[in-house]
Amino acid sequence: MNLTWVEISKQALIHNLHEFRKLIGPHVVLAPAIKANAYGHGLVECGTVFAEHGADYLCANALYEVEALRKAGIKIPILIIGYTPLSDLGGIVRLKAETIVYNLETLHGLAALGKPIGIHLKIETGNHRQGIEIEQLPTFVALLKKHPQLELKGVSTHFANLEDRLNQHYSRFQLKKFEEAIHALELHGMAPHYRHCAATAGIVAFPEAHFNFVRLGIGSYGLWPSPKTLVAAERLHLEIKPQPVLTWKTIIAQVKEVKKGSLVGYGCTYEMKHDGRVAVLPIGYYDGFVRALGNKGFVLIHGRRAPVVGRVCMNMIMVDVSHIPQARLEDEVVLIGKQGNEIITSEEMGELSNTIHYEVTTRINERIPRMLKP
Ligand SMILES: Cc1ncc(COP(=O)(O)O)c(C=O)c1O
Repeated sequence: MNLTWVEISKQALIHNLHEFRKLIGPHVVLAPAIKANAYGHGLVECGTVFAEHGADYLCANALYEVEALRKAGIKIPILIIGYTPLSDLGGIVRLKAETIVYNLETLHGLAALGKPIGIHLKIETGNHRQGIEIEQLPTFVALLKKHPQLELKGVSTHFANLEDRLNQHYSRFQLKKFEEAIHALELHGMAPHYRHCAATAGIVAFPEAHFNFVRLGIGSYGLWPSPKTLVAAERLHLEIKPQPVLTWKTIIAQVKEVKKGSLVGYGCTYEMKHDGRVAVLPIGYYDGFVRALGNKGFVLIHGRRAPVVGRVCMNMIMVDVSHIPQARLEDEVVLIGKQGNEIITSEEMGELSNTIHYEVTTRINERIPRMLKP
């Protein structure tokens, strides 16, 4: 029996792909991002469902993810959008992946392999993360021309704050720079087929940015990038209803009577306000239950909210179940998801712990089994 596990709804994963497909139309490449263990939802489990149900590409961060996906029999194109060390570039060829390129050393390294490789240049447009400045493009183009086995399949960029703002001034500025870069490439006789800059917020709120390829991350898992993106969708009258995919569960490991005035957990940070009952759950910050949820978070037991009392420990938390008399040893507990009429969302957990839901789901320890449910 597992102490903790994550259930993944296959139906919701497929539903979400269809919802976003409606927004982009049939001819735009839909490339779900499965990096970071599919945002904590299970790399191979989600990658397989996506590949079988309408994804055209997958976006990975690193080679080890591509390795796992290929091992699982996934054959669709996979684009690496993170960094591959120069010593490992051969893996891109071996695993038949494509890669984003944003520095010259990588391009030299790929050229030296002497093998056909699909490349997507990443343009610096204002995020100041990965990216080639427009003035540097001629050097990249010259190298690509010298090595025709390197196929320039795409050109891309990434928006810095589309999910944080309803006004799109900065995104429009970035889009303009992106278009200038495409134009510069064309002047050099290079016309990469794929053009991509939209992640979930761009797909929803910025149709001009769809071009012919989108990188759908958090939306694949039924989550909005931010409340602002939801507002943008409503303003545009978009009929799109992503469904959260993940339910995180555990069981009760002990139920004990605790007297009024007793102190609970490390640091004695919680004092019982009444004679009551506390349940101990066998999960902690090691599992990805954020420590900042101590004395703040909730779990669901028998369809009711039970508050976390005391600090979150490495492998345990304590919750007050005084108001849930039926709570017993090994009863099922929901950490994220629905139980009865109650729900705890990853957004709520993020807010309570002063982070974002992206971090909440990606932090769920990879060791915890992901169980695909129909
Ligand atoms: C380059 C790139 N593209 C796409 C995505 C997907 O973003 P989202 O999860 O907001 O859809 C990310 C996410 O971090 C990213 O870094």
